Amino acid sequence: MKFNTRTALTLSALAPLASALLPIIEQQQQQQPLLSNPETSNTVTENDIPSYRVPLLSLHRTLVNTPSISGTEGQVALDLKKLLIDLDFTVQLQRVPPAARIHDDDNDDDNDDDDESPQYRYNVLAWPGRHATPTFHNRTLITSHIDVVPPFLPYAINGSPVPPSEPLDFTSLSSDTLISGRGSVDAKGSVAAQITATKELLENGELDPASVVLLYVVGEEISGDGMKFFSSFLANQTTSSSLSNTPPRLHAAIFGEPTTNLLACGHKGIASALLTATGKAGHSGYPWLGRSATALLVRALDRLLQADLGSSERYGNTTVNVGVVQGGVAANVIAKEAWARMAVRIAVGGRKSGRGILEGEMKRVVREVLEEEGVGKGKEDDGGLELVVGHGYGPVECECDVEGFGTMVANYGTDVPNLEGEHTNYLYGPGTILVAHGDNEGLTIQDLEEAVEGYKRLIKHAVGA
Ligand SMILES: *[C@@H]1O[C@H](CO)[C@@H](O)[C@H](O)[C@H]1NC(C)=O
Ligand SMILES: *[C@@H]1O[C@H](CO)[C@@H](O)[C@H](O)[C@H]1NC(C)=O
Ligand SMILES: *[C@@H]1O[C@H](CO)[C@@H](O)[C@H](O)[C@H]1NC(C)=O
Repeated sequence: MKFNTRTALTLSALAPLASALLPIIEQQQQQQPLLSNPETSNTVTENDIPSYRVPLLSLHRTLVNTPSISGTEGQVALDLKKLLIDLDFTVQLQRVPPAARIHDDDNDDDNDDDDESPQYRYNVLAWPGRHATPTFHNRTLITSHIDVVPPFLPYAINGSPVPPSEPLDFTSLSSDTLISGRGSVDAKGSVAAQITATKELLENGELDPASVVLLYVVGEEISGDGMKFFSSFLANQTTSSSLSNTPPRLHAAIFGEPTTNLLACGHKGIASALLTATGKAGHSGYPWLGRSATALLVRALDRLLQADLGSSERYGNTTVNVGVVQGGVAANVIAKEAWARMAVRIAVGGRKSGRGILEGEMKRVVREVLEEEGVGKGKEDDGGLELVVGHGYGPVECECDVEGFGTMVANYGTDVPNLEGEHTNYLYGPGTILVAHGDNEGLTIQDLEEAVEGYKRLIKHAVGA
């Protein structure tokens, strides 16, 4: 789950918004047990324990134990590479530029040394088989992200931290045991469950090894730069088998994010917006001699918050979060300047058209306010309002008509729009977004094991087996 798809550079300016952008699951949250449900917990019997429990939980534990806050994903990528090789995958690391410098022309990451090192950042690509052909054409991409939000939180069982060196007997734990730690839900739970499900299907002969490829990306929580890099890389490939030089087309993509093991029908879009008000400074005792930028800004913000900026049956209302407001220099001076930063969750239009529709709606509201206030008609220093809607995307649709899955709609952003192409998208994973970035990030063993079963069914459906 991430907040925004803007570049890292512009995002750093938006950083203060982060805490205000608490994502919410629209449906089902009432019915979903948040972490565990004591009423359904069973005493452990051998039948309850799937054969993959130990490898699943060990993999999950290794991933959670390795800190990987966005920008510093090197070590976890190297760990994951080793784990995937041990599971008989052919693995490629894809070096991604440093997080803050993606669009910096003076990028000094021109170090040519090819040695793999935890100081770099890598997307991890894996193909089933030790000597697999690393192709993409018509494959189903099984993907999630390996970066996490700060701060690091240690791996814990039922609230008690367990140091990496301490042995753990997973078979002695009941299925409602809570596993917590940073990334345990978002999204290392998905990573571990996807790998386990793929491995299970391959071992049982239920999946053609040439039909899938795994991808674990960096930077999802900041700018999506890992997935954008992969998408650009893919677009630059040409398939040797095809006559024309067209890039490989994926068959489908399964994105792992916490959806409480429900299949997401899509998620709202997002755009950032900056509203700047200008006025004329003066003595606060004589307001008619100046023009208050703060007063103008407050009125315009109120209107934007009240306005109908569009709604749809699937995604509900477009919502505005005014995350940061600043303006003025002193209480007894008429403010000459004021501005507000907003994050808008877009419920209308398509992935490409949604941002433009929102911009039109917001500009209409701002124009109305200007007219009512009689601003901008007189002298130049009369003041005004300027709205800039930043990068963004409209609602992102995912395929959710798959037998046997409950469905939901998410209000948070994902990497789905960062992967260009005509493939079918699916969004599914264990755990709930409601704890994902909190101090209490965690899920139960049952959540993880259900996700393995869910991914098995979803992968088979996606590849058309
Ligand atoms: C893909 O090609 C474009 C144009 O040559 C280049 O700017 C971009 O860096 C390439 N992307 C990757 C991931 O190599
Ligand atoms: C959506 O906005 C309308 C007013 O524009 C309001 O009546 C309705 O309750 C809102 N829906 C939700 C789910 O908040
Ligand atoms: C792509 O793969 C699917 C099964 O995963 C198959 O049904 C379809 O025919 C393939 N298409 C092409 C163009 O190879």
